[in-house]
Amino acid sequence: MVPMGLFRITIKQYRLKGVRMRLRLNVLFLMLFTFLLATTAGAATDAATCLSCHESMEGAAKVSKDKYEKSVHGSFDCVTCHMAPKGAQHTGLTGAAPDKAVKDFAAAIAPKGLKDPLAAAACVGCHPDKVEEYKGSIHGQNVIVKKSSDGPVCINCHGIPHYIEKRPSMASKVYLFNIVETCGKCHEEKHITEKYGFSPLVMERYKESFHGRKLKLGHSGAPSCASCHGSHAIVSTKDPKSPVGSVENKKKTCGKCHPGATEKFVAAITHKPLHPVAHFAEIALIILTVGTFMFIITHVLLDIFADIRKRLFRKGGDHHD
Ligand code: HEC
Ligand code: HEC
Ligand code: HEC
Ligand code: HEC
Ligand code: HEC
Ligand code: HEC
Ligand code: HEC
Repeated sequence: MVPMGLFRITIKQYRLKGVRMRLRLNVLFLMLFTFLLATTAGAATDAATCLSCHESMEGAAKVSKDKYEKSVHGSFDCVTCHMAPKGAQHTGLTGAAPDKAVKDFAAAIAPKGLKDPLAAAACVGCHPDKVEEYKGSIHGQNVIVKKSSDGPVCINCHGIPHYIEKRPSMASKVYLFNIVETCGKCHEEKHITEKYGFSPLVMERYKESFHGRKLKLGHSGAPSCASCHGSHAIVSTKDPKSPVGSVENKKKTCGKCHPGATEKFVAAITHKPLHPVAHFAEIALIILTVGTFMFIITHVLLDIFADIRKRLFRKGGDHHD
């Protein structure tokens, strides 16, 4: 359409002025050339080319076309993230060269030893705010500064991006009802709790709390881990910036759901093991309560029994009268 239009204009102009035509024709050829180049390059790198092998593979290398297309990233070519897949089988199958932001983030998360660090870092191109928050978090610092492989990168909390679905899809690893399991993958691990000196009962105390039980029952108003700790900018709970790092912040955090939460109220939730004294007091209270009930019940039963006996004897007495 456009080239034809251009062509007609150039013919007209030729009749008017000889020099103009050569100029216009050059523009036309340049446009045609770019068009052809773009189509040939595009054919080699579209998702269908990659899927022609990967859809029929076994194990981790298999990518399901249907699930991919259903995901939030399903409209992208694979090379948007896999800018330079390794191996001879991929010769010529590359995307645009990674920019500085992607290269820097890929280098920063190198301690995780991933297969395709460029792909895992590609998020920065489209979710720069999340990456920025993450970099400052205790999780980001663990990987980037401590150079440890213990902390999570994006894909540890979200899964491989091929299959990320929009919340509230049950397939989302960060859907409210899946968050406990997602964080638990690491926070339930003994080697993590021991190495970083966390209370070994973080998960257990949460699950047995009012909150954990309510969430398990499907109550969407109950807090998951992220409701109290955040998600991308999580810091140490000893850091005053933490949403649970100071009494004032706790009042705000708990106050989202318990309006007017007081200093005394916000102290009610912790993941720490019950204090031995508190534990003993709890047991003593149970014994006392059960004991009192037993006493009352026995007393009442004896009373009723005595009453029946008395009535029976009196009745019998009446008969003999
Ligand atoms: C001719 C078939 C073929 C095509 C086309 C193909 N791949 Fe692969 N790909 C393979 C094979 C074979 C492997 C190795 C699988 C394994 O190790 O189990 C692989 C592995 C991978 C891996 C894992 C890398 C690793 O280090 O283990 C990624 C990522 C990948 N391919 C992405 C792509 C992308 C993106 C495209 C399209 C641009 C693509 N592939 C096109 C055959 C292909
Ligand atoms: C939004 C970014 C993104 C897109 C788009 C994407 N991938 Fe991936 N893919 C990743 C990330 C991140 C990983 C995990 C890399 C790692 O573990 O090192 C991955 C992993 C893989 C793997 C290796 C799995 C394994 O563990 O061996 C293959 C193969 C793969 N992708 C193929 C594809 C194909 C084919 C497409 C297109 C249909 C595609 N990817 C589209 C980000 C993406
Ligand atoms: C080329 C751009 C692009 C890249 C690269 C990319 N994303 Fe996305 N992502 C999107 C778009 C677009 C959406 C959909 C946003 C919407 O519809 O609100 C999205 C949505 C998401 C969502 C939100 C799902 C929800 O619950 O709503 C998550 C999580 C996500 N991406 C994670 C990642 C991760 C992790 C990476 C890197 C491994 C990544 N993305 C790379 C463009 C991208
Ligand atoms: C510690 C786990 C964790 C890590 C690591 C993590 N996320 Fe998330 N992400 C979450 C949780 C939980 C949510 C949903 C709750 C929320 O809205 O904050 C979420 C939500 C998102 C969303 C949707 C946000 C919206 O406004 O709808 C995007 C996009 C996203 N993450 C991208 C990323 C990217 C990119 C990275 C890596 C830099 C990353 N996430 C790392 C836990 C994580
Ligand atoms: C891949 C493993 C992994 C995943 C997944 C993970 N974490 Fe962590 N988390 C860690 C490690 C390791 C540390 C300790 C980092 C350090 O101190 O260097 C940590 C630290 C924390 C801390 C700081 C505790 C303190 O007071 O010092 C909180 C809070 C936390 N994580 C919450 C979460 C939440 C909430 C989620 C889920 C949304 C989550 N984590 C997912 C590994 C993980
Ligand atoms: C109702 C709010 C709330 C919820 C929900 C919650 N936490 Fe916490 N978390 C806290 C508070 C308050 C602390 C401060 C230390 C303490 O009192 O145990 C804490 C401390 C932590 C710590 C540091 C523990 C230590 O010994 O240093 C980790 C790790 C942690 N939480 C992870 C999680 C995970 C994982 C979940 C989800 C299973 C979760 N939290 C759910 C409030 C919460
Ligand atoms: C996302 C909302 C949410 C957040 C944040 C939250 N809670 Fe709750 N909390 C609930 C719900 C829902 C219940 C169950 C109420 C019921 O069963 O009536 C509950 C119950 C409780 C209970 C027991 C019953 C009661 O109402 O006295 C205590 C104590 C409690 N929360 C303390 C806290 C503390 C302390 C914090 C902050 C560290 C906190 N909660 C943060 C939603 C939340």
